[in-house]
Amino acid sequence: MIRIKKFTALLLGAFLLLTGCKEQSLSDISIYENKADSILKLMTLDEKIGQVSLFTSDWSTTGPSMRKDYIDLIKQGKAGNIFNAYTVDYVRELQRFAVEETRLHIPLLFGYDVIHGHRTIFPIPLGQASSWDTAAIEKAERIAATEATAEGLNWTFAPMVDLARDPRWGRVMEGAGEDTWLAGLIAAARVRGFQGLDLSDKRSVLACVKHFAAYGAPQGGRDYHTVDMSERSLYEWYLPPYKAAVDAGVASVMTSFNEIAGVPSTSNKWLLTDLLRNDWKFKGFIVTDYSSINELINHGVARDLSEAASISINAGVDMDMQGSAFISQLSDLVKSGKVTEETLDNAVKRILIAKYKLGLFDDPYKNCDKKRETEEIMTPEFLAFAREFVAKSCVLLKNENKILPVPENIRSIAVIGPLADSKPDMLGFWSAAGQWEKCVSLLEGIRNRVGGSVNILTAKGCNVNDENTEGIDQAVSLARRSDYVILALGESSMMSGEASSRTDISLPGVQLRLAEAIIKTGKPVAVVLFNGRPLAIPELDKLAPAILETWFGGTQAGNGIADVLFGDVNPSGKLTMTFPRNAGQVPIFYNSKNTGRPINPQNPYEKYKSNYLDSPNTPLYPFGYGLSYTSFKYSGITLNKTEFQKDDQIIVSVEITNTGDRDGEEIVQLYVRDLVGDVTRPVKELKGFRKVMIEKGNTVNVAFTISPADLSYYHKDMSFTFDPGEFELFIGPNSSEGNSVSFLLL
Ligand code: BGC
Repeated sequence: MIRIKKFTALLLGAFLLLTGCKEQSLSDISIYENKADSILKLMTLDEKIGQVSLFTSDWSTTGPSMRKDYIDLIKQGKAGNIFNAYTVDYVRELQRFAVEETRLHIPLLFGYDVIHGHRTIFPIPLGQASSWDTAAIEKAERIAATEATAEGLNWTFAPMVDLARDPRWGRVMEGAGEDTWLAGLIAAARVRGFQGLDLSDKRSVLACVKHFAAYGAPQGGRDYHTVDMSERSLYEWYLPPYKAAVDAGVASVMTSFNEIAGVPSTSNKWLLTDLLRNDWKFKGFIVTDYSSINELINHGVARDLSEAASISINAGVDMDMQGSAFISQLSDLVKSGKVTEETLDNAVKRILIAKYKLGLFDDPYKNCDKKRETEEIMTPEFLAFAREFVAKSCVLLKNENKILPVPENIRSIAVIGPLADSKPDMLGFWSAAGQWEKCVSLLEGIRNRVGGSVNILTAKGCNVNDENTEGIDQAVSLARRSDYVILALGESSMMSGEASSRTDISLPGVQLRLAEAIIKTGKPVAVVLFNGRPLAIPELDKLAPAILETWFGGTQAGNGIADVLFGDVNPSGKLTMTFPRNAGQVPIFYNSKNTGRPINPQNPYEKYKSNYLDSPNTPLYPFGYGLSYTSFKYSGITLNKTEFQKDDQIIVSVEITNTGDRDGEEIVQLYVRDLVGDVTRPVKELKGFRKVMIEKGNTVNVAFTISPADLSYYHKDMSFTFDPGEFELFIGPNSSEGNSVSFLLL
């Protein structure tokens, strides 16, 4: 404490001397700029280069550890930021090196991949998106920020908002799915959740929107692969979620590994400076992805590390993650004039401003509070919310003969499958500081719910991903002895996430054989699916009477899923990414174009139409799809007018009746189609949704208001505007079903 006071006094003294002004309102950006300028004036070239460098800490089995050379760099003021270091004692120790042993006492940023929770792990982001509940998503990030800051962190490498239409790509688990508008809403909610109202709050972290840009569109779905797309697709589909994060005030942006049209993002001046800084007015700092400056050499746009460092900082990069490119090259580059000192100063200044905004200069140990570390981690309240969120994220894909929920008179249940009792798999990829030992497996969740009154038997049946069929017979005999079977199938959590692309996205290993054998027993079977991407499961869909998609639910997975299985929660999630019938249909997404030879729905295999010889065009489960234990009936659509002027409001409504026997939530979706455009338009575009609770037997009126401006798109000349003409408007339970109505824009 005494040390902090000494440090603060020292620094304050320096500011007052240099700026001659008193502390003013924190919200005033120019104050931070002045402060950053004051300190910048005192910095040597090496110290400046330290601020634009970010290095990783290791985490060994015995706890956190830091390479000695990095510690030396911190002490010399040459390492200004650290990632992968957390827990109060450890962060305090590293921060102490920076603020007490360096000449200028500049505090460190501590970054980490807090992607779907820190200690309390929530469902994977693709699962969270299936809730279509932006308030819940924001709350989850608030909790994540609370826990992360309680363990010393002040910066998260999230949200990841890369739009993805290819489920072969393993990182689809980390995003919000295929719709750009919904992804934008979710991106903004995540930024708000992480950053809170004020970055100086001790429970706020800097957010970092990533991976800028279009990392989610690699050729063939192969991670890190080339991205090539039209300017229109980039603007219309891929850029808006990043823009939404910028508009929500995101403090930092991470460049992506990929190239776009021949230019790797980390060296793309147009992307980082012209678009992000100049057009979008982004004021925060830009960090590279892990060693992506160095990778410019492999990309073939830089001869050596010196050139790589030079083109990346000149393109707009402010901070080098782990590549040591800046620390090893910038000094010479500045001395030789290839990088101006002003360019470096601007980068340093943006990073210093972030540190000021966080309040680190006032209290570098603001996130080093042992009390918070014990009291604000995995609290009963956080765990209760995590459990609710698991249930909200589940999507009921099939439910023939109301197999689900599990009937109350069941006396014995066989819980079978390679994922039935796997705690580690519940976490999902990017589970930060999540501890698998603290996860509730499906089996445990079921036991917690009905263990006292129902006899629960269990067998693995097979592994997730090998050819061994030895366990299938035992699982079948268990199923025969039970009244009901819950069959837990899918991918292991390491089969999705970074560097986890797959060419075959069907159920791995011999799981389908296990499912066939179990279902053949004639027992009621509900399949519980775990996976980080849409899977191609047409055979399972044919065989299994009930399928519940649960993604990877995190710490409370088993409890939250049990809440749905036993009917305590009526499922309401809807897919935000299309499930294909087979990998050959990929990329497949709801907002595709009509083409000049659209399929004939009466004869889907008609020759010389845009179709396949061996597969329908339709997906297995479309975007927006998900069932409930109750049923909803949609009325026809009412429009306030049929012809609109450009300043009119288009008010559209529908009545929805809960025709089933229990209360339920429905996600009502509004889509439009512009029938004739300046350029071709998608067959449907999501323009609104409402999540409404409807009691059984009740009817509610759901209304949407959109304006003609909401129908804007990029024209041939790339102007963003709307056209007069005829539009079709759809309201329904998913992107494939619903009623439609036409209107005219005059
Ligand atoms: C990933 C980023 C991540 C970074 C730091 C990279 O490999 O692409 O998403 O933030 O590592 O862990």
